[in-house]
Amino acid sequence: MDVSRIRDDFPTIKAGNGVYLDSACQTLRPYQVIDAITSYYTEFPACGGRSVHSMATKVSMAVDRSRETAASFFSCKDPHSFIFTKNCTEGMNIVAKGFGLRKGDAVLTTDMEHNSNHVQWVEMVRDIGIKRKITRTSGTGVFDTEDFKRQLTNDVKLVSMVHTSNVTGTSVPVGDIVEMAHDKGAAVLIDGAQAASHTPVDLKKLDVDFYSMSAHKMLGPSGMGMLYGKEDRLKALRPLISGGGTVGLATYDSVKMTAHPEKFEAGLMDYAGIIGTGAALEYLSKIGMRNVERHTAGLQRKTDKELRGVASITAVGPDDPLLRASIYSFNIKGMGSHDVAMMLDSADGIMIRSGMHCAHPFFVSRGIDGCARASFHIYNNDDDVLRFTSAVKKLAAAFSK
Ligand SMILES: Cc1ncc(COP(=O)(O)O)c(C=O)c1O
Repeated sequence: MDVSRIRDDFPTIKAGNGVYLDSACQTLRPYQVIDAITSYYTEFPACGGRSVHSMATKVSMAVDRSRETAASFFSCKDPHSFIFTKNCTEGMNIVAKGFGLRKGDAVLTTDMEHNSNHVQWVEMVRDIGIKRKITRTSGTGVFDTEDFKRQLTNDVKLVSMVHTSNVTGTSVPVGDIVEMAHDKGAAVLIDGAQAASHTPVDLKKLDVDFYSMSAHKMLGPSGMGMLYGKEDRLKALRPLISGGGTVGLATYDSVKMTAHPEKFEAGLMDYAGIIGTGAALEYLSKIGMRNVERHTAGLQRKTDKELRGVASITAVGPDDPLLRASIYSFNIKGMGSHDVAMMLDSADGIMIRSGMHCAHPFFVSRGIDGCARASFHIYNNDDDVLRFTSAVKKLAAAFSK
């Protein structure tokens, strides 16, 4: 894999616009994705699935192609199992609110969820009377299978968990979780926002019922995501939003819903975004997700080697860098995480994320105020790591007396 050639595909890198280490939030986009979006707006900016003229037909065909690309990217046969959403959060909400949980039913999550797999459960406990169960991970976010088994009681109807944490980079054993949950008759929804962008995800093999992801963390357009669901699960799921495009025939007092995926895609869609998502998945397929995983793990190891042993720097997450995927979260003694992020940017042109990363309960439960987070993708190289680590060491030396 030739990283310098890959870097040439990314306009902000070519322009020398700093070192981008915030890919867990949003990745950069290659020309291939930008060109696909531009071609929609310049060549066929019509709607899909409605009008029958030639421009609209081109849109419908391009949308179908993106769905087919998604299916083959995630090793699934049926493109109709993929719903285009505006982000991972929307997919998580579609399942939470459409699954049909009733008073007394329980949902089981981990204690390291992003708010996109947390806030709706707090609301549904309050509004519907469902029960929320939480399996505890270790202080550094490592999954505890024994605790999970204890929490997986007969009232659990849905297990809803993050695949890879956006704070610590730790992953849960999805295959095992699915097996145990199915044995108990519970369905499984996985938040794949981080995992899908960094590791090969074979949805057939994992046997999950639902899997939600963010295209904008996968080199795709901003404000795009996908929700995968098994056929029988999607048939049973109620849509979150209804309206144009979701019904076959509507009379004044009745509606006949269309089949999935259309029943979940109400109103005109972000066609440029869908087409750009397809282009992003094609781009990643050519590189190979195994290569993405290997490359970012190498950057993680290098970062760890450079910063390990610096007394005033604490990594947030497990000690073993191999368990942290492409995410390096840390604190510098005596400095707030936002100050770290702002100084790295203003003094050295290094862009990272800071704060609680929309995973407030994780931090509050562990008594940590937040952390700085560097995250890598395929376009980052060793030089980025060295610029980042030497800038962090400089800050640590200057501020942590
Ligand atoms: C683990 C995880 N889940 C969910 C989300 C939310 O993703 P989106 O902004 O696409 O809704 C994020 C975003 O950072 C995330 O890291």
